[in-house]
Formats: sequence, C-alpha cells, structure tokens
Amino acid sequence: MLRLRSQSIPATLFLILLAVPLHAESGYNAWLRYAPLDDAAAAQYRASLPAIVVSLKNAVPEQSAQQELIRGIRGMLGRTLRIEADIPGNEPSIVLGTLDEIRRRFAITAALQPDGYWLKSTRVSGTRHIIIAGANDAGVLYGTFAFLRKIALGESIGEIDEKQSPTTAIRWVNEWNNINGTIERGYGGPSIFWENGRARADLTRVNDYGRMLASLGINGCAINNVNADAKFLGPDLIPQVARIADALRPWGVKVALAVDFGSPKTLGGLDTFDPLDPKVVAWWASKVDEVYRAIPDFGGFVLKADSEGRVGPSVYGRTHADAANVVARALKPHGGVIFYRGFVYDHQMDWRNPRNDRARAAYDNFHDLDGKFDDNVIIQIKNGPIDFQVREPASPLFGALDKTREAVELQITQEYFGQARHTVFLVPMWKETLDFDMRIRDRSTPVKSLVGAFVGVSNVGMDESWYANHMSQANLYGFGRLAWNANLSSRQIVDEWMRLTFGDDPAVLKTVVDLQLSSWRTYENYTGPLGLQTLTDIVGNHYGVAVEASERNGWGQWHKADSQGVGFDRTVATGTGFSGQYSPAVMKLYESLENCPDDLVLFLHHVPYTHRLRSGKTVIQYIYDSHYDGAEKVATYARDWSALKGRVDERRYQEVLEQLEYQAGQAVVWRDAVNNWFFKESGIADAKGRVGRHPGRVEAESMTLMDYVAKPVTPWESASGGTAVECAAGKCTASFKYDGNAGSRNLVVQYFDQLDGVSHFRVFVGDQLVDEWTAADRLPTRKVDSAASSRRIIRGLLLRKGDVVRIEGTPEGPETAALDYVEIVLRAGYSDR
Ligand code: GCU
Repeated sequence: MLRLRSQSIPATLFLILLAVPLHAESGYNAWLRYAPLDDAAAAQYRASLPAIVVSLKNAVPEQSAQQELIRGIRGMLGRTLRIEADIPGNEPSIVLGTLDEIRRRFAITAALQPDGYWLKSTRVSGTRHIIIAGANDAGVLYGTFAFLRKIALGESIGEIDEKQSPTTAIRWVNEWNNINGTIERGYGGPSIFWENGRARADLTRVNDYGRMLASLGINGCAINNVNADAKFLGPDLIPQVARIADALRPWGVKVALAVDFGSPKTLGGLDTFDPLDPKVVAWWASKVDEVYRAIPDFGGFVLKADSEGRVGPSVYGRTHADAANVVARALKPHGGVIFYRGFVYDHQMDWRNPRNDRARAAYDNFHDLDGKFDDNVIIQIKNGPIDFQVREPASPLFGALDKTREAVELQITQEYFGQARHTVFLVPMWKETLDFDMRIRDRSTPVKSLVGAFVGVSNVGMDESWYANHMSQANLYGFGRLAWNANLSSRQIVDEWMRLTFGDDPAVLKTVVDLQLSSWRTYENYTGPLGLQTLTDIVGNHYGVAVEASERNGWGQWHKADSQGVGFDRTVATGTGFSGQYSPAVMKLYESLENCPDDLVLFLHHVPYTHRLRSGKTVIQYIYDSHYDGAEKVATYARDWSALKGRVDERRYQEVLEQLEYQAGQAVVWRDAVNNWFFKESGIADAKGRVGRHPGRVEAESMTLMDYVAKPVTPWESASGGTAVECAAGKCTASFKYDGNAGSRNLVVQYFDQLDGVSHFRVFVGDQLVDEWTAADRLPTRKVDSAASSRRIIRGLLLRKGDVVRIEGTPEGPETAALDYVEIVLRAGYSDR
C-alpha cells in the first residue's frame, strides 16, 4: 500500500499526487474511485457546482463529510473546493449541516428519519446554495456520499430536492476476525483489525474500511469472531478495541464486539455464568460500564450461545431470554444493543431419526420466548433455516416473533459460494428472502417488513481489493444498499456498483451486469440445484465437491439421496413438520409436492429420481442438465469478459479474467463430480448421453506411467474415474499416444494443486516442450481432491496421429504433482467459442 508523507514531498507535487487515486485500479477504492468524468460531463458539473464548501459544525462526521466532498469533487472534476468558515453572502456554496443547523440559517426544514438526508438547492438573496442536510451528524455524511454518487453516475444536481431515510435504523457488519489475525471464513487475506494478539499498529485500513461502510450508510461493525474469545473483554484488549473505535468513529461507524457467554467465569473468575445469579448480573453490568468508559459510543454485543459447541444458558437450565436479558440490562443504560443469534442448533443430532431436522431448530428454540426479550435485544436470524446455503427458504423464525425485535443476517463473505474464487452476486438471493411473503395473519408480510436491522457478515481482509475478487465487492455494496433501502432492485444496485467501479463503457456495463445478475443461478446450477443445498464438503473446507459429506453425521445438512430417491421430507403429513412452522398460506405452498416451487422441492420433499418437476423434467435429468448449463454459462462469462480487453484497466482486466477462467474450470469439476455421483447412485442414464462420457479425455491412470502411481481419490467423485496419479519424489512422467486426426487442438491438463508445496509441470509433444507451469495456488485443501483440482489449457497445438504427449511432474514439499486427466479437444474454455 502506497502511503504519502506530506512533509517529505514538495507542496506542489503533493497536490498533484493527491489528485490521482492512491490505489489506482487495484480495487482498493472499490466504488469510491472518483474517476475523472469525461470532459463534457465535467464541464457541466463545474458550471453548476459552487466552488466553496461550508460545514456548519466542526464535529467529526461532518468533517469527514467535508473532506470526502473535497476528495470526490477533485477526483471527478479536477476542482478543489475552498473551505469557508461561514456561508458567504454573495457566492454560491455547498453547505453541510444537520437539519437543526440548516433550519437556523436558511429557515427551511424537512421531515427525516434518523440518519436520513436532504439534498436541496436553494437561493438566498439570489445566490444559489446546495444544502446537504442530515437528520443527524451521520445523515450529513450519508447525504454527502449520495451527492457524490449522483455526480459519479451523471445525475443532475441542478435543481436538486431529494430526501432519503433508511428503512432500517441498525445496519451493521460482522467481521469474524480472530485475535491472531486469522479470519473465520475470510477469503481476502488476514485481518485488517488484529495481528498477533493486538490491534494492528497501523489502522489505516480500518479507517478506509469505515469510509466504505459509511458510503453505504452502514453504522456498526462487530470486529471479532462470533465464536468469541473471552479475552476481547479483558483489560488488555479493551484499550485496543478503543483504538479501533477511534479509527471508525470519523465515519459514524460504531464498534461492537462478539462476546462469550461464559465470560463471567472464564474471564471474571466467578464460579458461575448462570444469567440469573446476582454475581453474574453484577459482573456484566460492571464489565459493560468499563467498556463504555473506554468507548462512550460503543455499539453493543453479538452473542452466539448454545450452538456449535459454544456455552449458553442451557448449562444452568435457563432460557435464551434469560441469557440475552442479563447482557441487555447491562447495556441498556448506555444505549447499547445485543444481537442474540438465532443460529442455535444441535450439531450432534441423530441422523437415523427421520423426525430430526436442523431446519426446525431456530423456530423451535425461539418462538415460545416471544415477548420475553428486553427491548434492546435483537434476534439475529440467518436468511435461511440452515446455514447460508445456495438456496434455502426464508427462515420461518422471521414470522414467529411478534413482540421481539429481529435482524436479518446475510453472509457477504462467500463461504458456501466459492470463497471469492467464484463470482456470485448475492443480492438477487437476498432479495428473494427479503421479498418473501410470510403471510402472517393472511396479510402481505414480506420479510423486509418484519426486520428492524440488517447484519452482513463481511470478513474483508488485507488483500488490496478487500475480498481478493473484484466482483465480490458488489456483495458488500449490495448489502449496504439493501440495508438502506430494501426496495432497490438487484439490477439498479448492480448497475450503480458497476458504473462506480468500472466506469460507463456500455459494453463493460452490459457484460458485468449480465454476469452478476445470472451468477447466483449459474452457481446453483453447477453446485446444488432444486434445494439440495451446496453439495460441498460440509465437514471440511466448505469449498470442494463432496456429495455425501453432509450425510450420516450429526450436522444435519442432510439431503438424503440414495439409490431410490433424493430430498428431505420436511412436510407435516409425513416428514419432520418443518413446513408447519410457516403461516397456513406458506405451509400450503410448501406442504404439497404439486405446489412446491421446483427450486425448493428437494429441500421439502423426498422424491424418486423419476419424479416430474413442475417444469416437466424429471429430477435426475434436471440435475444433469443444470450442471451442464451452469458449466457452459461460466465459460461464457470468461469469454465475454475476455472481449473487454482495453476497455477495463489492464490490472483488473487480467485479475478478473484469471478468476473467471479458474471458475470455468471448477464448474466442470463440479459438473462431473455431482453428475457422476447421481448417475452411479440412481443408475439412470443422462437422456442426452453426456454424463460419464467425455470424448477426448484420457485418464492419467490409463497413461504409460514412469514413477507416477495411480491412487484412489476421496471422495471418489472429486477426480475423473475416481483416481489420480501421484508422484512421491523426484520426477515422474505420464504419457500417451494421440490417435486422433491431425490438426490444431487444445490440450486441457487437469491436475491438482494442494495448499502446501509448489509442484512443477512440463508438457512435451514428442521431444518438444510445449508448456510448463508451477502449481503455486493456495487452494483450501492439503488433499488430492476437487478443491485442489485445477486446469491448464494449452491452446492451438498442432498434433499428428501417433504423437506422444508426455507430462512430467516434479513434486515439492507435501504436494505430489498429481494428475487427473488430459483432454484433447477442438474447443476449450472461453477463447474457442
Ligand atoms: C457457519 C460457519 C461457522 C460460523 C457459523 C456461525 O456454520 O461455517 O464458521 O461460526 O456459521 O454463523 O456461527
């Protein structure tokens, strides 16, 4: 990261440097690039924009707003606004202030909800001023970002009069960061907050992240893992948390912490953490007082209790309400809130009992407690009843808490969505939940009308682009925009994000918008369609394919596929009764196989593979087809993006292209693994004859091997033919004779790139070296399996019948230079379609 020191740089040069974004096109500035507008647009804005900025208050968020305005205008228009202490009588100005301050100076006012803003042009004695008014200090900041966004999007600011207020008051992110700097389910590098047991010495990134959050109206950030380490409330760490709070405060973002319910005992030294014990009550009160002494604007706590091995009130036979309230009462005098997680379930459930169902857990745990929670308790509910899977119905708990505050928890970090190596835009999925009509008391009750807070699990990291995937930034952007206004459409959100992030070129716009909007369906197609859930390694990395990893264990993500059929009967009539947790209208929709939407049919019903969906296809054929469709589609993403060369800055162009090509390869791995698994299990052939047949594919184990040894892969579906060849040491070769027609061909080498070690590969045709590469990626597995599976495409090779193709692998460290297969095809990947 480039950092400037003004003292060491001559003043003029400093100004020039400031005009250029510091992190030009690395993705660091995300949608806040303030790229120069084209000349005509810039000239128009220059003509209508005052040259002066006045901030009516010298308080922190308004100062940030003023600085941001100057930065944005300078970037986009090349003009540096002049700061004046007071509103000039005879010169136009941009005036920043709260409604109260504005009313005193202009005798105009408006009705705004907290955090809302008003952008208004007005005239005083013939002089035009643009007012950026906020309902409160934060509102001024949000109004400023909105004003800059308008300019970046080319919208008119002439006779402006626009009021906006957020639809929910609490809009937080959670960062599952550990004190040692690792991040639970984070894919963008190490923590920006913590390092080696302390807050980072340099918190510049935290400040910059606060700016990104503020630009979306996000007003709180919990800075540690929900699986909380009690140490965060210890005397050593509270001052560290306070430093982080200082870095976020200029952006109106309150700091919050995840806490461990056992803290009174483990940290406080009491002999109990029973929430009804007076000693425990006193401990929480005094601990919270201590926190607020250090951080007066502290936001509150997040608490995960009695779930996935975390301790909770059940230890003492107490309820979740008892647990939430003891902490809530300590926070109450300070204005803090507690987010109590609805994600409570037993991960040691007996899978043999057909009545057991993890999807029931949130509702079963909480609905009887409705009305028992204090008013500063918010139940934080994941969008679906399981756990951020590729498709789930809306959690029935949203409809079950009449008298209790609710938050929706959405996962921005792509844990089950390809971990930032796959592009998946999640806004359309989130909107399905938010817009889903729970039909409470038979009236229209979309989930968005039931929730009073939004929480996004973000997990940014030290990678320059925050998530290690430029496209993934759209998920944070989309989360923030929806938290502000859940009625925005996916298209509007992605359109804004795209233009702010990559500029206005219509070709880029079309490609990126189409890609993002179709990406969830595409990912679902090649992972787990029809409500099967993401068919990934549930008990491991949550990344690679492992169709059976969810079965026959206590974690409860069962899809119950066997040789006869697939899906989980969650009906009231014959299953677990889950569908009965919804209102009668929704239950009707889900309970009957005829009414149930195809997309969720296997989430709610167990059916034979030959069951015909509403679409008319059989389940098995749908599984086969969707996997081929999904893999095809990702290949088109890479192809379409590749056509944008020269239209996007080179660095981001290359990085996105690499990512999409990788994703296209992984989609093939997923396609083959899932289809082969279902083919083997069901014994039903693909009507289109593709599954299990791969023209041009030569399995590594069938090649002539020197020192390479064929080994079975686990699970078997994660390698073609269930087998790979591995090289223990030295150098190994696998070769075969090409017996097709002569001509130009593409050679696809499917190999494995584990986490440890950097193997080297060389490919020869006859004696001629045609390609070589190192397997240096850091994929999340140490095993030879689908998560490590990678492909190399060698394009345009001239082959003659009888040519010997030889692959030479040199392992390094624990990596074994493993090979899966080679495919010789006319077309491979994006460039050949
Ligand atoms: C998922 C995730 C865990 C996390 C949990 C939670 O299960 O894999 O890492 O702790 O959700 O939300 O609490």
